Amino acid sequence: MQEPRASDIGRRDVMRTAGACAAAAGLPPAATAQIQPSESEEVRMASVSFQVNGQAHSLELDTRTTLLDALRDHLHLTGSKKGCDHGQCGACTLIVDGRRINSCLSLAVMHEGSSITTIEGLGQPDSLHPLQAAFVQHDGYQCGYCTPGQICSGVAVFEEVRAGIPSHVTPDLMAPAALTAAELRERMSGNICRCGAYSNILEAMLEVAGRQG
Ligand code: FES
Ligand code: FES
Repeated sequence: MQEPRASDIGRRDVMRTAGACAAAAGLPPAATAQIQPSESEEVRMASVSFQVNGQAHSLELDTRTTLLDALRDHLHLTGSKKGCDHGQCGACTLIVDGRRINSCLSLAVMHEGSSITTIEGLGQPDSLHPLQAAFVQHDGYQCGYCTPGQICSGVAVFEEVRAGIPSHVTPDLMAPAALTAAELRERMSGNICRCGAYSNILEAMLEVAGRQG
């Protein structure tokens, strides 16, 4: 007679335990069979095409895939970081069509035809973006986990101010906003740095703002 395999015993044990749990909970036997994905939970795939750092990409994705996961898991661009995955820390900030977004809160399929810039597209080790160079010069990071999001956010902040978009602390809505410390602190407040490198980040941004100013 064939010896029972360990995997068979495991399956039988699991079924018996599930049945016992259902009985203990007073559930009819059929209730245990209801733990199946419903039709509405079926995976739906969709194709999306966009440009990332100037390169065209077409992906076939589960429609629930966030832009952050599409970039990190499908295109292997791991510069954008996942901190909270809830839109609260800014680690995943990147630039889409000139505006910064929290990519953990945005579905990839919403970005058909978009032009996306990640930290990998801002500069290279031998040709840093001016804000990247300023972060290095002013020690604007410690562990560096928040840094890609901080820099993408900072680059977008300079554009926002240049475009005349006011913030909560802009004193005169009729005059062009200035790149003051108060403006930069307010506009960067969605980017959390657990290492607390805020004063150095501000110095780096003020230096670039001064050069632009
Ligand atoms: Fe997106 Fe924190 S990971 S905001
Ligand atoms: Fe570590 Fe900002 S440098 S979280």
